[in-house]
Amino acid sequence: MADCRSFFFLTVCAASLFGANAEIKFTIPVGKFFTYELMRETFQNDFEPLSKLYAGHLYDDPMIFKCNRQNYPDLPEWLRFTQRHPFDNGFLYGTPTSPGKSIIEIHAVNKRSYDTARHILVIKVVPEKLLPYQAEFFIQLREIEKVLPSAVQDEIKQDLQKLWDTEALEVTNITNALDRGGRVPLPIAGHFEGVYVKVASEQYFSGCLLKVLTPEHQRQCVSGAKVRVPGGCNFCSIPSNCITWCKTELFDLTKLEPEPPAPTMGSGILEARGDFNPPESPPSRDYFPDYLVTVMVPLILALILCVLLAYIMCGRREGVTKRDSRTNQIQLYHHHTIHGNTDELRSMSGNRGVPPPLSTLPMFNSRTGERASPLRSDSPSIPLIMAQHDPYSDTLPR
Ligand SMILES: *[C@@H]1O[C@H](CO)[C@@H](O)[C@H](O)[C@H]1NC(C)=O
Repeated sequence: MADCRSFFFLTVCAASLFGANAEIKFTIPVGKFFTYELMRETFQNDFEPLSKLYAGHLYDDPMIFKCNRQNYPDLPEWLRFTQRHPFDNGFLYGTPTSPGKSIIEIHAVNKRSYDTARHILVIKVVPEKLLPYQAEFFIQLREIEKVLPSAVQDEIKQDLQKLWDTEALEVTNITNALDRGGRVPLPIAGHFEGVYVKVASEQYFSGCLLKVLTPEHQRQCVSGAKVRVPGGCNFCSIPSNCITWCKTELFDLTKLEPEPPAPTMGSGILEARGDFNPPESPPSRDYFPDYLVTVMVPLILALILCVLLAYIMCGRREGVTKRDSRTNQIQLYHHHTIHGNTDELRSMSGNRGVPPPLSTLPMFNSRTGERASPLRSDSPSIPLIMAQHDPYSDTLPR
């Protein structure tokens, strides 16, 4: 762990050990893999009062971290953050691609007390030449958080040093297979996300590595069979660190085509090339035929349609009239019959000379046959209902 960090020219300046704004500084070269472990214990110290620390009553609180570039919402492009679980440490990792300085803010949130602590990480990236020979390996039985601790990185590096047959090997990139289109594994023991590890060296590839480039290797791997690392090249000491031979890739940066030269910038002013010669104006065109076709033809068509419609509406009127007259006759007949009926009713009402049946007259006594017209009586005491009076009393005035 110590020698790995010393390689990164690491300078740790804890400004204040228990302060909320501890500032940690790193200086790292371009193209080298960088890891920083966010230790929960360190942040726990920030959350606890000192007295408690000495008394030995340290909590083991769940914590989550939020990391971003100072004054920016996100991390720099090259830097990633991962934390599997609030009871695990977090990791900042990545490979810088260009020199510069990044100030990273780390906010830790204690999920028990909801206290927060803030740390500052200053990462200075200095330029360095890239190593020319690079190789990428896939480790299937690993997860990114398990590989990032420097002890595990060293184990993996040691295996690869033997495979490459050199000590001068640098880890240049470690990535989660999920970030490269890998599938989320089943939540069953023995299924892992997988990790890509890229290493680089000054020294050319070893014989073992060059087997990756043979047509035989490619044929075997295309067939989909589980190809084992060729005999004599299997240096895997810890089973979970073993590489998937078919996913091994070599990159020879010396063979890369040189980049095409950048386009040369001009002054921004075009050179003088004589006067502008406007082209001859085109010959004038006769638009009369076009006029005939676009205006006259539709007009004539409309006229013809108009005449046709007029003929249908007016010229064939006779037939319509005939039918009309018949309708009139029917109406006249109806009128006539109504007239007749009325006359009949009139003559009937004229024959009302005969007196109406007595029973229809008011004040008729059915026993005596006497009639009394209330119109002729002047007594004001006429009872309204005659049936209540004795018909023999003869009180009714005559
Ligand atoms: C490291 O790997 C990741 C994922 O494949 C990639 O995005 C990134 O550019 C790589 N970094 C370098 C320096 O190659």
